Amino acid sequence: MTTYKLLLLPGDGIGTEIMAEVKTVIDWFGKRGVASFESEQDLAGGAAYDAHGKAISEATMKLAQESDAVIFGAVGGPKWDSVPYDVRPEAALLRLRKDLELFANLRPAICYPALADASSLKRELVEGLDILIVRELTGGVYFGSPKEIVTLENGEKRAVDTQLYTTSEIERIARVAFDLAKTRSSRVASAEKRNVMKSGVLWNQVVTKVGKEEYADVALEHVLADNCAMQLVRRPKQYDVIVCDNLFGDILSDVAAMLTGSLGMLPSAALGAPDATTGRRKSMYEPVHGSAPDIAGKGISNPIAMIASFAMALRYSFGLVAEADLLDRAISSVLSQGLRTGDIYTEGTTKVGTKEMGAAILKQLDVLSA
Ligand code: NAD
Ligand code: IPM
Ligand code: MN
Repeated sequence: MTTYKLLLLPGDGIGTEIMAEVKTVIDWFGKRGVASFESEQDLAGGAAYDAHGKAISEATMKLAQESDAVIFGAVGGPKWDSVPYDVRPEAALLRLRKDLELFANLRPAICYPALADASSLKRELVEGLDILIVRELTGGVYFGSPKEIVTLENGEKRAVDTQLYTTSEIERIARVAFDLAKTRSSRVASAEKRNVMKSGVLWNQVVTKVGKEEYADVALEHVLADNCAMQLVRRPKQYDVIVCDNLFGDILSDVAAMLTGSLGMLPSAALGAPDATTGRRKSMYEPVHGSAPDIAGKGISNPIAMIASFAMALRYSFGLVAEADLLDRAISSVLSQGLRTGDIYTEGTTKVGTKEMGAAILKQLDVLSA
């Protein structure tokens, strides 16, 4: 039996609440005997800043490099609003993504049948929705240099962020999107702003070339990113896979989240390139949402995005596809039974807290696997 090393980084705010629930799910799969999981837990974000003055310590980074998968909660919060920029809680996440070279971020937006009325959009627009946003995660304006605030001679300040992409960075994320599209409806929409950004022009050219030369069997469409945001709330089911840069992917995935009922429903996988000899790739699994300071500590956050992120770990890092399907089915059944955290609550359903939702999913795992 294979043993996988997990590094659990709960982070801040609701990160700690949702991590407590996913831990029980990880233990459940460990006891099932399909694989064994060795978990270590450490600090990241504001919690690490409070302990060491840094958003993530070198020792934690080493554990992350040695792990088979990092399971990440969420970081940030008002307590750290005024800490220096380089050590702010969010820097932990950016460093993990960059240093582990997790360039491909898969953000699936699936509307579970029971939640078709929980979205702010009409039922008919979201029922059956299953789209996958493939977000480039280690380039673009997040990491381009220069990135600074300088004081000019006249005393005014000037802030600079740099959007930067190379051909190979665009090629590799395009291939991830096309490969995944082939396992789905074979349609890719590439979103950029070639009308105003040079990086958009290159993005468009490279995705077109990769599509034509390597994936003639996948239908490719180009959409301006602002129009894509509008189309997502107008007629979301027109999309299968959407591929886009780092910043557009951040924004479009929050938009897509509401199509599923709540930001608390959206999981994600951040993947590196497969190792040439072992085929294994570095990875980190995290919900798309943040630390939700407005509800932290109340025990009412939705743990589903975190638990579904572990389902993605089973699928993409450990090749345990049947187990991943089982976990997704358990989540779906609990929702069908009418259990809801506050963010997805609708009239006639039963409101539960974080712990009760986690416990219901565990119980459903027992039922479905009996
Ligand atoms: P947020 O995602 O934390 O919250 C946005 C809204 O969604 C809030 O009303 C919140 O209550 C709700 N929400 C989010 N997740 C939920 C869940 N699981 N269950 C129920 N409701 C949920 O975004 P924000 O408020 O803009 O950011 C708060 C902090 O989180 C900031 O410091 C930000 O930088 C950070 N952040 C971190 C991550 C991450 O660690 N991956 C992601 C996004 C934001
Ligand atoms: C996300 C978050 C992060 C991002 C922040 C917290 C750095 O919003 O994962 O969506 O912008 O990538
Ligand atoms: Mn985001």
